[in-house]
Amino acid sequence: MRKKLIAGNWKMYKTDEEAGRLASGIADGFDGSDKADVLLCPPFTSIKTVVEVVEDSPIFVGGQNMGWEKEGAFTGEISPEMLLTLGCEYVILGHSERRQYFSESDQLIGKKCQLALSLGLKPIVCVGEQLEEREADKTEEIIRTQVEGFSAEVDYSRVEEIVIAYEPVWAIGTGKTATPDQAVEVHKLIRKIWKEKYDKQIADGLQILYGGSVKPENSDDLLGEEEIDGALIGGASLSKDKFLKIISSAT
Ligand code: 13P
Repeated sequence: MRKKLIAGNWKMYKTDEEAGRLASGIADGFDGSDKADVLLCPPFTSIKTVVEVVEDSPIFVGGQNMGWEKEGAFTGEISPEMLLTLGCEYVILGHSERRQYFSESDQLIGKKCQLALSLGLKPIVCVGEQLEEREADKTEEIIRTQVEGFSAEVDYSRVEEIVIAYEPVWAIGTGKTATPDQAVEVHKLIRKIWKEKYDKQIADGLQILYGGSVKPENSDDLLGEEEIDGALIGGASLSKDKFLKIISSAT
C-alpha cells in the first residue's frame, strides 16, 4: 500500500517568525506515523528556520519552486542545491500559480523535474485543468498533455521518485473542492497514463496527491479514498489546528 503524504504549501504567507511558530505547533502535534508522511513547504526565506524547528520531528521540509539550472546568473532564482543543503527533501514544481503568473511550460517544468531528480530532491509536480476546460470536457486532454509534457524531459531511471499532485485550478483557494469521485477519476487517469508510458509496477507505486480547498471538513472523505495518496494544502495549512486535523484524517 502506498503511504500518504500530507503537504502544506504556505505560498507567499508567513514572515520568518510566524513560520517558525507554525512549524513548531505542527511538530508538537505530529509524532510520526507509518500511514502518512508530513511535509512543510514554507517560503524560501523561512526554510532554514523551519528545518531547525522540525529537526527532531519526522516532518519533511520542501521548497515551493526552484530554478531550472544548477547555478548561474539568474537573478531571483533559487537552485536545487541551495534547497538540498538547507535540508529540503522535496520541491513543488509546476504549481498552477507558477504556470499562470510566471508562464511556466510543461517543458520547463519537466526540465526542473529532471534536475531535481538528478540531485536527489523529490519533485511534486502539479497538474490540473481550469474551470472552462472541465466544462468543455477537456479535462482528460489537458491532464494528458501536462503529464506527458513534463515527463518527456525525465530519465526513465528516476521516474519512481516523482510525486504528482492533481490540483484542479477551479478548486484552488476557491472553497470549491473536487468531490472524491471527481478526484479519483483524474487520479486513475494519471495512473493510466503512467502505466502506458512506463509499466504497471511504476504506475502502481506512483504517489498522487489531491490539492484544492482541502480542509478538515472534507479531508476524511478525500483521504479515505485508496486512490488519493495524500493532499497538497494551501489555505488550511496556514492554521496549525486545521493542518493537524487533516493529518489525522490520513493517519
Ligand atoms: P488551497 O488549499 O488554498 O485551495 O490551495 C491549494 C494549493 O494550491 C496547494 O498547492
